[in-house]
Amino acid sequence: MKKILLLHGPNLNLLGEREPGIYGRDTLAGINAEVIEKCRKNHMDCIVFQSNSEGEIIDHIHAAQGDCDAIILNAGAYTHYSIAIRDAIAAVRLPVVEVHLSNVHAREEFRHISVIGPVCAGVIAGFGKNSYLLAVDAVKELLL
Ligand code: DQA
Repeated sequence: MKKILLLHGPNLNLLGEREPGIYGRDTLAGINAEVIEKCRKNHMDCIVFQSNSEGEIIDHIHAAQGDCDAIILNAGAYTHYSIAIRDAIAAVRLPVVEVHLSNVHAREEFRHISVIGPVCAGVIAGFGKNSYLLAVDAVKELLL
C-alpha cells in the first residue's frame, strides 16, 4: 500500500480560528481526518505531521525518504522564503505536492513567490480544504 506524508507548516495548527475570512472555519484536525479518509478510500495510508519549526519540517521530509511514497506539503509562510525546505525537497527522491488553502497569487506580492514550487511536482492553491483533497487525487495519479 502506498503511504503519504501530509505535512503542515507554521500557524496551520490554528486553522479554524486563524483569519477565517482567508482560511475558512475548518480545523486542522477536521482537514486531516478528511484527507486520511480519502486516502483510505483510495487504498493509501496517510500519516500527518504539523510543526511551526523549519528544522522539524526538514527532518520530516528527510524521514519520509524510505518510509513514504509522496508528500502533500503546506509549508505556510516558509513557502515564500525557506531555501532550506526547498533543498530538503530536492534532496529526497519523492514527489511533493505543494498545497495552499488560499489563492496566494491573489494576495500580497510576497506570497506570489514560492521558492519550493520549482522542486515540487505541482501546486494546488485557492480551494480551501479542497486543496488538500485535490492533492490526494494528484498523488494518486503520480504514484500510478
Ligand atoms: C498558506 C499561504 C501562506 O502564504 C501563509 O503564510 C500560510 C498559509 C495557505 O495555505 O494559504 O500560512 O500556505
